[in-house]
Amino acid sequence: MSQTNRKILVTSALPYANGSIHLGHLLEHIQTDIWTRFQRMRGHQCYSVCADDAHGTPVMLKAQELGITPEEMVSRTRAEHHQDLMDFGIDYDNYYVTHSDENRELCELIYNRLDESGYIVKRTISQLFDPEKQMFLPDRFVKGTCPKCGAEDQNGDSCDVCSATYSPVEMKNPRSVVSGATPVLKDSEHFFFDLPQFGDMLQEWMKSGAVQAEMANKLQEWFEDGLQQWDISRDAPYFGFEIPGAPGKYFYVWVDAPVGYMASFKNLCTRENIDFDAFWNKDSDAELYHFIGKDITYFHSLFWPAMLEGAGFRKPTGVNVHGFVTVNGAKMSKSKGTFIKGRTFLDHLNPEYLRYYYASKLNDGVTDIDLNFEDFVLKVNADLVGKVVNIASRCASFITKRFDGKLSDNVLEPELIAEFQQASATIAGYFEKRQYNRAIRDIMALADKANQFIDANAPWVTIKDENKQQFTHDVCSLGINLFRILVTYLKPVLPTMAAGAEEFLNDNLNWDSASSLLTGHAINKFKPLMQRVDMEKVEQLIEASKEDLQATADKAIDPDSELAKDPIGETIDFNDFAKVDLRVALIANAEHVEGAEKLLRLELDLGSETRQVFAGIKSAYAPEDLIGKHTLMVANLAPRKMRFGLSEGMVLAAGPGGKDLWIMEPHAGAKPGMKVK
Ligand code: MSP
Ligand code: ZN
Repeated sequence: MSQTNRKILVTSALPYANGSIHLGHLLEHIQTDIWTRFQRMRGHQCYSVCADDAHGTPVMLKAQELGITPEEMVSRTRAEHHQDLMDFGIDYDNYYVTHSDENRELCELIYNRLDESGYIVKRTISQLFDPEKQMFLPDRFVKGTCPKCGAEDQNGDSCDVCSATYSPVEMKNPRSVVSGATPVLKDSEHFFFDLPQFGDMLQEWMKSGAVQAEMANKLQEWFEDGLQQWDISRDAPYFGFEIPGAPGKYFYVWVDAPVGYMASFKNLCTRENIDFDAFWNKDSDAELYHFIGKDITYFHSLFWPAMLEGAGFRKPTGVNVHGFVTVNGAKMSKSKGTFIKGRTFLDHLNPEYLRYYYASKLNDGVTDIDLNFEDFVLKVNADLVGKVVNIASRCASFITKRFDGKLSDNVLEPELIAEFQQASATIAGYFEKRQYNRAIRDIMALADKANQFIDANAPWVTIKDENKQQFTHDVCSLGINLFRILVTYLKPVLPTMAAGAEEFLNDNLNWDSASSLLTGHAINKFKPLMQRVDMEKVEQLIEASKEDLQATADKAIDPDSELAKDPIGETIDFNDFAKVDLRVALIANAEHVEGAEKLLRLELDLGSETRQVFAGIKSAYAPEDLIGKHTLMVANLAPRKMRFGLSEGMVLAAGPGGKDLWIMEPHAGAKPGMKVK
């Protein structure tokens, strides 16, 4: 890697403005931030920008639901997102929004250039239209019956039951998710970006190493499937930018979103007098990297470079794709409390725990990253608290109390020091290649060596020996110096802890700090730099994430609905459910019970045995209406002795009570004694 001053621009994908920042987003922002901080520490000119992705149908509809303008919603969300990110120590030079003047101008410029060069084609297509809402429906806003397997209530583009994919036009009984109306087919002229013209260019670009090997294979498959023209227009009503010269037609959100990278940077350039063109001109010698998740690869490695090329701009140096976050081995789940918002995490835990944990697992591949909370607690406590911070806390108080707060002039163990210093190049190489897991592994191996050195020389023993004062001073001073080198290497990952250490060391750390030692240097009083994580705090975090969900659900539920009156109970697992033995029963007999106001006595035939059950359904049923019908019973409920006799089970009924009570009845064909499962 060249050591001359590099010009670098880095971006993270722009979070949609209609949801909160969660632990999945944070993987990406943390990955980007570590890389950016590393480059800055190395003395390179490295800018990082991001923004909120403001446009599109979901944002428009969410704002309508909240009764505010989309502009207002977007400006609120942008501020909230930016604050969340800053509180995780993520330091963008600019966090902007795609609904901006800069972005509109750049989109128009790019579009006009593409159009002039013959890359825009128009044709009429037929799409589902909501006649009530008077709008075209994106696939995800249509639901209906799967055309392949007949499963009801499936999405407009794919079936969860049989995994078929299809066009919403093929669905049976389609309905609009927005209004419930039955959509109709309607023609409209659409604008397309002629991607196939860029096939050769993209193949070349891919060979430049701009994408990881695994992604290159994926892209190759896409090439083989054949590139398609890309539909870039949407009809009003749409929250976005109108296409120049085409009233009522808007850029599809995925057109202006990546241009938003440029626009955010442009806004920064104006504010800080940076040369925008030097980064975006076709012949720019600056490097441009996009950090993204694997789900949006198509947009970033096909459409985006082609748009840039077609409009006469430079292409990305690298598209760095990462995998998805899973929590405790499974997809983040709202009901399990593992769909965790950044803000909820901040309310319970130190954000640097997450930065460290992600760093210890992140590499340059696209495999998913599992956040396992047991492992998380162990790692943070063992590595950060037990190893790194421990080095300083074992040495610092002797320096302060016994040696006048000053490090020794003597240097012990030159070989150990050399080992720490020579690791710099390898660790830097790992950060550069985004193999943070390897950097962390090497740093922790060094931390083990520093602790072994201190253990072997036991300054807490030698301090008691008058003849060993100088030696003790030298040992503790070396311990502090080794700690300083480790913190230097960890600074891109743990900026807050590093700032605390710099305060204690009375020193500013950049990457070259590792090659020097502090001798005869005054340090400040040591304050604990990091607390242990408590599993209890993690459990509270998960509980609070479940409550977040409940709060959102409460908002969405109609107060008069059945669910609002009687909310869905605590989640159970299948084993809990399986304990209840439900059986089909024939009501062989039903009669009034003398002296009982509410009860009927039922004889339930299970095929090979008969049960007596007293059921509180007298207010809703006459006995003669029940005889001969089938129903469902809980067959393994402990028998209960009542005033009128033994009740050996329970029948199932729904409703508030009184006349409004309905017992369950299976569809025709179910036989007495059959198990319900
Ligand atoms: N708005 C688009 C991006 C436009 S970029 C020009 C978008 N937004 S998003 O909010 O859905 O996702 C933002 C980023 O977060 C994407 O890179 C996405 O892959 C990433 N992640 C979202 N959920 C994730 C996980 N569970 N795990 C890791 N990253 C994930 O897509
Ligand atoms: Zn299906």
